[in-house]
Amino acid sequence: MNETIRKVGIVGIGNVGKAAASTIVHENIADELYLSDIDSERAKGEAYDFEDSIELTQSRTRVIDVPLEGLAACDVILVAVTERSQIPSQSRLELLKGTAAITYDIVPRLKKAGFQGKYVIATNPCDIITYLFYKLSGLPKSHVIGTGTSLDSMRLRKQISKVVGGIDPRSINAFMVGEHGDSQIAAWSHVTIGGQPLDQFEEDNQDELGKIDRPSVEDTARHFGWEILTRKGNTQFGIGNELAFFAKSILNNAHIVTAASVVQDGEYGQTDLAIGVPIVLGKHGVEKIIKLRLNDQEQQGFNASAELIKGYIKQTLD
Ligand code: LAC
Repeated sequence: MNETIRKVGIVGIGNVGKAAASTIVHENIADELYLSDIDSERAKGEAYDFEDSIELTQSRTRVIDVPLEGLAACDVILVAVTERSQIPSQSRLELLKGTAAITYDIVPRLKKAGFQGKYVIATNPCDIITYLFYKLSGLPKSHVIGTGTSLDSMRLRKQISKVVGGIDPRSINAFMVGEHGDSQIAAWSHVTIGGQPLDQFEEDNQDELGKIDRPSVEDTARHFGWEILTRKGNTQFGIGNELAFFAKSILNNAHIVTAASVVQDGEYGQTDLAIGVPIVLGKHGVEKIIKLRLNDQEQQGFNASAELIKGYIKQTLD
């Protein structure tokens, strides 16, 4: 990694790419931010607009529009390409045909151009596209990271916060694992609040809080994207910030724990797919996969989610 000039690229300058770019520029996460879009004029327009926004901030990020191959020297490429926005009645899986075609186009081109950095992929269906990036890029599996259930885990912590008396989500340890989609599951057996297991917390505070309705909390978190999508036609700022956070954590060698979709080597009893699990994120990308000992019910849910992803991967790679 280049220690002196932090170079981040974004491919796909739509709603999500722009939101990520805005956070990267205004939080000064990169020294140079490269924007690439199939519509090169659009990328140039966005770059010019960001240039206009810099003087009033503390940031000195240079924003430069480039053709796809111009991203090859970046430390991190954030992937936000999509053929179209998701239609609210559809699942994320229905975007696969269009986004897989784009993936088959761009990954070999970036490989040929010599890209050796880290990919962070938000494009849906995230787990399948992440695995495709891994297969096509030839990069080590630690370099190919999907945002996966990271946003879902934040949504889960926010919903848990509401039923435990408003404790800050950052003081709650909780993860969604599995598909970034309808089959994801909350790893309830590992939820802690200030280090205390949720069951104990619930017992100690029963008079005040009553019984926590776990299925309802989980469902609200799992479907929160729809609350946004059905109203504004896309989700943008949550996932855009998430992409910027992944870039920052890699560049700063943060060794921070987050959920992410990563290629599995049996850590959760599964291989030949990427799926959401907690990881340690640092300058080598995936520094470590944290192996939660899921209980039987959770493991069953996780396996079902994995099988679903594998089915789509098979169909895409065949
Ligand atoms: C969401 C998109 C990223 O969940 O799938 O907001």
